[in-house]
Formats: sequence, structure tokens, C-alpha cells
Amino acid sequence: MSTAALAVKTDVHALDIHPVAGRIGAEIRGIKLSGDLDPATVDAIQQALLTHKVIFFRNQTHLDDQRQEAFAHLLGEPIAHPTVPVRDGTQYLMELDGAQGQRANSWHTDVTFVDAYPKASVLRSVLAPASGGDTVWANTATAYAKLPADLQELADKLWAVHSNEYDYASAKPDVSAEKLERYRKVFTSTVYETEHPVVRVHPVSGEKSLVLGHFVKRIKGYSQADSAHLFNLLQSHVTRLENTVRWRWNTGDVAIWDNRSTQHYAIDDYGTQERIVRRVTLQGDVPVSVQGHRSQTTKGA
Ligand SMILES: [Fe+2]
Repeated sequence: MSTAALAVKTDVHALDIHPVAGRIGAEIRGIKLSGDLDPATVDAIQQALLTHKVIFFRNQTHLDDQRQEAFAHLLGEPIAHPTVPVRDGTQYLMELDGAQGQRANSWHTDVTFVDAYPKASVLRSVLAPASGGDTVWANTATAYAKLPADLQELADKLWAVHSNEYDYASAKPDVSAEKLERYRKVFTSTVYETEHPVVRVHPVSGEKSLVLGHFVKRIKGYSQADSAHLFNLLQSHVTRLENTVRWRWNTGDVAIWDNRSTQHYAIDDYGTQERIVRRVTLQGDVPVSVQGHRSQTTKGA
């Protein structure tokens, strides 16, 4: 891009952006999120999302459920979760309440058990604990970019089976077994399986990224043992601390992430303190592999 073009772009995109970690995450200041933002600001937010992968906005306490949905609608087409019912009085919104066992304390990308999984999620903190309950995001594009060339070549050829019937046994010591079981039943009321390439090409940026996380059941064509080795090998590159950013929530914060090039992990260290977040996800596109093949849902569709 020429310097002149860059100058024009910078002029239009007058956001106050403060990167948080070296490879992922930026706080955007001085914006009051709403469904009435002008198109130039919305474009600038979309651009910041592509560049930084997760963007944060403090002090959005004026938002309620409807305003959150209206804002999210500016960035894409909101969609409800495939199995979890939407919150009463909303069209798409999903509530995650720590007291009900909704503690996503393992690495994942949202809803990868379907083919066209969300392109982005807009998460609002309704009640933040006084301490703990941070969320960590990882950049799956830098994770791929920093792989040794031979591993990239291997990953380019692999496909993984993702399912919502994943391992729920991850420890949640502050939630009763009954509550966890009740949530698991809702979450898996329809069981989905989808085959995704382990490396997808981002439809907007063209960046390659690793598609893994806790919904992966196995690597296609490999034994359980080899699947586990291959998964752990590649997943360990995603979660290297250099690829991550950690956010300390205040009530009223909003985080938006590009769900096509990130994973995240909600840290379950807040005991019996209340923690409530509400999420709107935006319709994604079917991933495409390096060779040009598309993901396919094989069960549940
Ligand atoms: Fe999530």
C-alpha cells in the first residue's frame, strides 16, 4: 500500500487503539458501543479485529441485552447457539453463568462442532468477580506462522473431527455434579460432528491458522494414540504464552474476538464468586483448507 493510501486510511480509521500483548489483543478507548455507530467507525472496528484478533472496550455499562444485540448486528449476522436456548427476551444472546457450571476452562474456539462456525463473538461482562475469572485468548495464526516449516507442511494435510460431545471431565470443583450434568445434557441435546482442516485460510486476510481446541475428537486417519500426540504437538504451539493475551474483566467490559483465528480459555479460579457474561455470535463461513477443500458436517446437521 502506498504511503498516501495509508495516510487516508489512518485518517478515516481514527480509533484510539492500545495493543495489550505483543502478538494479540488491543484495547480501543473513547468509543461508546451502540447500534447507531457510523459506518466508518464500524469499518475501523472490523479492521482492528482482523489485525489484533481480540479487541477490548472498557466501561460499556450503558449496554443492555438488546443494545448488545443491536451493536453486534453492525458487525455481522447474529446467530443463536445450535443447542443452548437463547436468554429470555433476546433473539440470539447466550448467558454464561459460573454458578450454573458454565465455566469454559479449557482451550477452544466457539462452536467448531458445526461447519460454518461463528466468525466472531461479542462478549459482555454483566457481573465480574472482584478477583479472578480472567479470560485468555491465543492467536492461532501466529501459532501456525511460527511453526517449523516441516510441521506446517504436515499440519496443512491434516483434518480433525470436532464434536460437541467432548470431554467434560475438566475439573470444576466449585460446581455441583448435578448442575454440570444438567448443562451437559442441554449442550449435547443434538450431537454434531464436523470435519475441519487443521489449517484453514482466513476468508478476509488470507492468513493461515490452526483449527484445534477442545471440541477435537480425533485426527482423521490416525489411531487414538497418534491423534492425541499430533493434537498435543500442534495445540501446544497455540497456547504458548507468546501467542496469548489475558484480560482482567471489569463489569461492563466488552471483548470481541475473531473466532476464525483465535482460541480462548475462561480461567476458573473465582470459587463461588458470581461471574456472568453474555455472548452474541456472528455467522461464520465454512472453513477452506490450504488445498481448497471445505469443512463438512457429518452428523447432526
Ligand atoms: Fe467460548
